[in-house]
Amino acid sequence: METAVPDNDITQERTGQGIGCPGWNFLYHTLSCCLDREAENIVVETGTNWGFSTITMARALIDSGLRGHVYSWETDAANHQRACDNIASAGVASQVTLYHGSVAEGLGRFAVELDGSIRFAFLDGSHQQDEVLREFTIVYPKLTNDSVVLFDNTYPLPGDNDPGQGTNGALRVIERDYQGNLVNFPHTSWWTPGQAVWQKAPFGWDWCEAC
Ligand SMILES: C[S@@+](CC[C@H](N)C(=O)[O-])C[C@H]1O[C@@H](n2cnc3c(N)ncnc32)[C@H](O)[C@@H]1O
Repeated sequence: METAVPDNDITQERTGQGIGCPGWNFLYHTLSCCLDREAENIVVETGTNWGFSTITMARALIDSGLRGHVYSWETDAANHQRACDNIASAGVASQVTLYHGSVAEGLGRFAVELDGSIRFAFLDGSHQQDEVLREFTIVYPKLTNDSVVLFDNTYPLPGDNDPGQGTNGALRVIERDYQGNLVNFPHTSWWTPGQAVWQKAPFGWDWCEAC
């Protein structure tokens, strides 16, 4: 949203950092702080793009030394292929499964067939309100009680007079209908900025049940 930094090259020149900072760091550390020491940590992502966030999450799993796997969906064939190449180059292919195709169908089938629970979801595919809600509704029944869902691009679109659009609008519905804990970080990520963390269990939940 800053007119002086319209692209990645200029961002790097002016700040010394890429557009992924601090968003992907936030993703890395949030996931690292959610992992279960005992169970298989199932991580799902919508919107692989070129695989940067997927690699970040796979790296968090590897660095933790715990068991887990990242499953990610991308609709665009060229992006999917580029992500496959990047995942291989990054040396994290054994922690990652990439799917090319519609999130609605693919993720839906995955959730139905999944023998286990999702510990962490990063919803970063389509940022249309109804699509974000659809993805959330698919993963919700499979989430562990202490799971976390991270959302990207939570800021209302500039010039959009209706803040109830996009991810921002979806989060309003999620907060109303699903409760849990929701924290928004408006100054991270890229166009639109903002990442939010939603935790399934409300604060009063007995965390020792999960110990
Ligand atoms: C913002 S990018 C994802 C960025 C990536 N998660 C990262 O942080 O590196 C969004 C991606 O989602 C893909 N996409 C859009 N709608 C989708 C959908 N319904 N299902 C899967 N992917 C979708 C787009 O093609 C695009 O590559």
